[in-house]
Amino acid sequence: MERGSSKNSLYHGDNLDILMRHVEDDSVDLVYLDPPFKSNQDFSLSSEPVADTEGPAGRVAFGDTWRWDESAELDLQRAMESGARIARILRSLRDLVGETGMLAYLSMMAPRIGELHRVLKPTGSLYLHCDPSASHYLKLLVDSVFGAKNFRTEIIWKRGSAHNDTKQGRCQHGRIHDVILFHGKSDRWTWNPQHTPYDREYVESFYRHVEPGTGRRYRLGDLTGPGGANNGNPEYEVLGVTRYWRYTREKMEQLIVEGRVVQSRPGAVPAYKRYLDEMPGVPLQDVWTDIRPVGARAAERVGYPTQKPEALLERIIRSSSNTGDLVLDPFCGCGTTLVVARRLNRRWIGVDSSRAAIAATLARLRGDLGETADSDYRFVEAGEEVSHAR
Ligand SMILES: C[S@@+](CC[C@H](N)C(=O)[O-])C[C@H]1O[C@@H](n2cnc3c(N)ncnc32)[C@H](O)[C@@H]1O
Repeated sequence: MERGSSKNSLYHGDNLDILMRHVEDDSVDLVYLDPPFKSNQDFSLSSEPVADTEGPAGRVAFGDTWRWDESAELDLQRAMESGARIARILRSLRDLVGETGMLAYLSMMAPRIGELHRVLKPTGSLYLHCDPSASHYLKLLVDSVFGAKNFRTEIIWKRGSAHNDTKQGRCQHGRIHDVILFHGKSDRWTWNPQHTPYDREYVESFYRHVEPGTGRRYRLGDLTGPGGANNGNPEYEVLGVTRYWRYTREKMEQLIVEGRVVQSRPGAVPAYKRYLDEMPGVPLQDVWTDIRPVGARAAERVGYPTQKPEALLERIIRSSSNTGDLVLDPFCGCGTTLVVARRLNRRWIGVDSSRAAIAATLARLRGDLGETADSDYRFVEAGEEVSHAR
């Protein structure tokens, strides 16, 4: 559990400091992090809902430009002191990318990945959301901390539709995907398989039959026992046809009573009626094209830049945690992970260093929780629990 509290917690501050001071070893079931991507741009607020912002004009949400300077050098030194494996990989990366903004960015990320490994339970999982700007270097960092054998999947999320970069004079392919790196902490990890609906073409070619009266679609499945007698399948007669069957005679009789055994014409080999509406769908693959980014008019939009879709978080949280588990988002932005975790009855910890992000998250939690907001979680600023009442 989290140091000092079993309550859901929102922290305003630098996540490295918060993790070190407030989150216990082996206490978290799932980490989702969506840090700055090394995009070389700073993000401002796009619409009104976030009132309490920082920066002279009150419009800056967070920065994502990185320079190699004294403070970056200090970060690198500290990161190298945080562990031998991280030091080794950072030395190689320094050789590869030089003393650049990229090295500054990776030096910021390295100790945080180390801390996230520390706070995860042995059965925990980490999902690192990034994009091709730095995903290849970040994977090396996470592999070095978590162990390459604990890498599970690289998920490609198609976040945009096709656009024509050549219009801007760029002679390269349009960039429309993000990368989500999934690692476990050990060889035992929580996994709840998820499914997506079958596409129409598949349904029409495989579930060709429609049951009169109910309108339920079904396909026919083989009832004969593979391998015949050699595999111990029983031989008997069903609807006038003698074969080796995959079920016992009693089970077959039950299926006939339930209307599950059909014969297309007298003498044809009976088949199993498999309804489409009883099938889970297609097991989720590692290319996700069915979740749209948060559009300008989406109901869930709160006006915080880089806000991720709730459906994306729902999929990740359902896949890799169970009811009552603790979910941590150390770069929580406007709180997408937190509101989804709560709706799915998970406990949560969120951290962000931006005042604008915290204001957006507080407003969103209030909108989501209404009157119960005050008792549902605590808000910690500068190490002190403060009131977040309206
Ligand atoms: C890409 S945004 C996250 C967006 C979020 N997933 C959402 O749906 O709203 C990255 C966030 O990381 C925060 N951040 C950057 N550096 C941080 C640090 N050292 N500690 C805590 N938060 C940080 C930024 O303020 C920003 O809100």
